[in-house]
Amino acid sequence: MNLVLMGLPGAGKGTQAEKIVEKYGIPHISTGDMFRAAIKEGTELGRKAKSFMDKGELVPDEVTIGIVRERLCKADCQKGFLLDGFPRTVPQAEALENLLVELDRVINYVINIDVDKGILLERLTGRRICKDCGATYHLVFNPPAKEGVCDRCGGELYQRADDNEETVQNRLDVNIKQSKPLLDFYETKGYLRTIDGQQDIHKVFADIEQLFGGLH
Ligand code: AP5
Ligand code: ZN
Repeated sequence: MNLVLMGLPGAGKGTQAEKIVEKYGIPHISTGDMFRAAIKEGTELGRKAKSFMDKGELVPDEVTIGIVRERLCKADCQKGFLLDGFPRTVPQAEALENLLVELDRVINYVINIDVDKGILLERLTGRRICKDCGATYHLVFNPPAKEGVCDRCGGELYQRADDNEETVQNRLDVNIKQSKPLLDFYETKGYLRTIDGQQDIHKVFADIEQLFGGLH
């Protein structure tokens, strides 16, 4: 199964991706996670990405396309993949089309998790993430059983550097601007499926599973 997960910041891409990869056993390819890992390792890619991420801007297309190309060529993607947060611009979507032709692969679905922008600020500023396993929580909507501690592995929870109110506002503005032409691109190709992301987390996943139907 070859999937693309789209949605504005805070729509629930990472939350649903965790569930999809656990159930379907395909690799989770999140460009945001890859950039954050590079920042942590202090690599050249990390230094480049950080200057954009700190402001809530997009990392330039050529950098982002380069890391996805490298990742999709790895052996574990033979069984399928879940792209989370890529593509985010039309040039990225076009580059992905070309790459998939080279790899003789097709996209099965582009899933757009649709959430009204009015509730995204609260979702992002209340988000907490496990330092050790990366699991995502929310202070109100999806709290851990014990405050500040991951249910899954006992790790410490932290707030992402770009989840402060000011950066969140800019991330939302930047992504809203890019999303319409991208949705049109995939709508025209007939891949796009929109899911109501304002439902409970489990209901959103149930809708995604229903969409897959006979595919797996
Ligand atoms: P990235 O890490 O991809 O961030 P994002 O797109 O801003 O999306 P988020 O991870 O913030 O949100 P999400 O949709 O995964 O929501 P989540 O499931 O966590 O990118 C970060 C940066 O990297 C970008 O700003 C850019 O600089 C750069 N970058 C990445 N990709 C790029 C690209 N392709 N091109 C250029 N630059 C790129 O959920 C959010 C919160 O809500 C959580 O607390 C969660 O518990 C809660 N929640 C989730 N679902 C629900 C629900 N149904 N009901 C209630 N609460 C919910
Ligand atoms: Zn954990």
